[in-house]
Amino acid sequence: MRISLPDLPNEVPTLSTERLTLRAITESDAPNLAPIVQLPEVVAALGHEQPRSEGQVLEWIRSLPQCAALGLRYAFAVVISATLTVVGLIELNPVNVVSREADLSLWLARDARQHHFGAEAARAVIDWATLTLCLDVNGVTTPDNAAAIALMRALDMSDQGERVVHSQRYGNVPARVFIARRRS
Ligand SMILES: CC(C)(COP(=O)(O)OP(=O)(O)OC[C@H]1O[C@@H](n2cnc3c(N)ncnc32)[C@H](O)[C@@H]1OP(=O)(O)O)[C@@H](O)C(=O)NCCC(=O)NCCS
Repeated sequence: MRISLPDLPNEVPTLSTERLTLRAITESDAPNLAPIVQLPEVVAALGHEQPRSEGQVLEWIRSLPQCAALGLRYAFAVVISATLTVVGLIELNPVNVVSREADLSLWLARDARQHHFGAEAARAVIDWATLTLCLDVNGVTTPDNAAAIALMRALDMSDQGERVVHSQRYGNVPARVFIARRRS
């Protein structure tokens, strides 16, 4: 039997949840997103040497349409629908078009945490990826990131335990890995 998998989209869709809108990141989001990616815990999670400046965030935003066009990365702004406040970003990156899998990352502003926005945003992106795109979604975090581990448990992602993964900054490091499998 031959199974045909759907093509990966060439742009970021808009996903709506009860309280959130997840949409393509635009250049005007740079002033809101820069303070989030500059938080020490986010810098550590990204494996960067130092926080990105707002200019570097802008450069990164400008690279996103091409990444989506190639089906390699889909990055969404996490926006509270009622107030249009940008509270974070969530992405599937990298998307491996051959093995049909992607890593999920999510960063929220500190004052937006622990309101179940993370679970709401991640559930929408995981549903889109596993149901519509037929991707397996990996959640990879450091073994001491209690919030990320609790989030992935709350999402019923399958716990693969600790394993060594490659990080640009640290080389091979221990990580806690969760997976949501494609559902079609
Ligand atoms: C990880 C992160 C996205 C979680 O988002 P969030 O909106 O605060 O999480 P939620 O409110 O949706 O909580 C989901 C579950 O995790 C639990 N949780 C959230 N933060 C927690 C913490 N610091 N410690 C323990 N449990 C926590 C919640 O209680 C909830 O569990 P429940 O459904 O059983 O009540 C957020 O803490 C964050 O942005 N952290 C910094 C960046 C980061 O580490 N990102 C992950 C990199 S992959």
